[in-house]
Amino acid sequence: MERKYYEAYDDRYKKVHSEKNLAWAGEGHSPTIEALLKKHGATEKSSILEIGCGEGQNAIYLLSKGFNVRASDVSPEAIRWCKKKAKEQGVSGDFFVMDILRNNFTQKFDFIYSVAVLHMLVEQEDRDKFLRFVHDHLNEHGKAFIIVMGDGVETRKTDASKAFELADRPFWDETIQVATTSCRMVTWQHFLDEIDRANLKVLNHFLDRTIAGFVVSMVAEVERKDFSN
Ligand SMILES: C[S@@+](CC[C@H](N)C(=O)[O-])C[C@H]1O[C@@H](n2cnc3c(N)ncnc32)[C@H](O)[C@@H]1O
Repeated sequence: MERKYYEAYDDRYKKVHSEKNLAWAGEGHSPTIEALLKKHGATEKSSILEIGCGEGQNAIYLLSKGFNVRASDVSPEAIRWCKKKAKEQGVSGDFFVMDILRNNFTQKFDFIYSVAVLHMLVEQEDRDKFLRFVHDHLNEHGKAFIIVMGDGVETRKTDASKAFELADRPFWDETIQVATTSCRMVTWQHFLDEIDRANLKVLNHFLDRTIAGFVVSMVAEVERKDFSN
């Protein structure tokens, strides 16, 4: 199957893992996710899906706290890394490769969360598909937490055809944290409108400066419109 621009992160992970044996995104988890899960009543029995888990810092942390997380990413290298890290830390969990935009996945969840993934999707068609996936894989009263890079004011859009070229940049490049492969930052209005188009209702939204690896992120807590009261 043709490799899509958003798969370029796999090259980036391979490079940093093999050249430096280091996690690209570091080891720190983002406390917001656990706080939101608790706020919305998640228990050890709740089913939770992470989309685009990367090197697993959030999923491994939540699994270590007893949450029932299945963690997915389109990058086989990221998933290999997650399995290795989880084993080293004595945590058992289910890490699997899945392209959020091309799959036959049918399981539904009580909670879905995703950190810094939607901003990698530069084409609107792909962003709409991502949000539709969230909608279609939430249980009736399920909640999702979508966290994206940006402050809701500044906008940016890289050229999707350059993603593999950008992934190949050296690590000392000072712009490494920004637009490493593909990146689209949108306004709050744009973000809220695309969520709405996916038949999801925004329960709350805010800016967060505690997301690991990002200066500022936008957070939306959502549920399915078709089941909300
Ligand atoms: C910026 S990284 C963030 C990783 C992790 N959530 C974190 O906070 O460090 C974005 C992740 O999204 C994954 N990704 C991009 N497009 C995807 C898709 N279509 N399906 C699943 N994962 C995807 C990438 O492979 C990468 O691991």
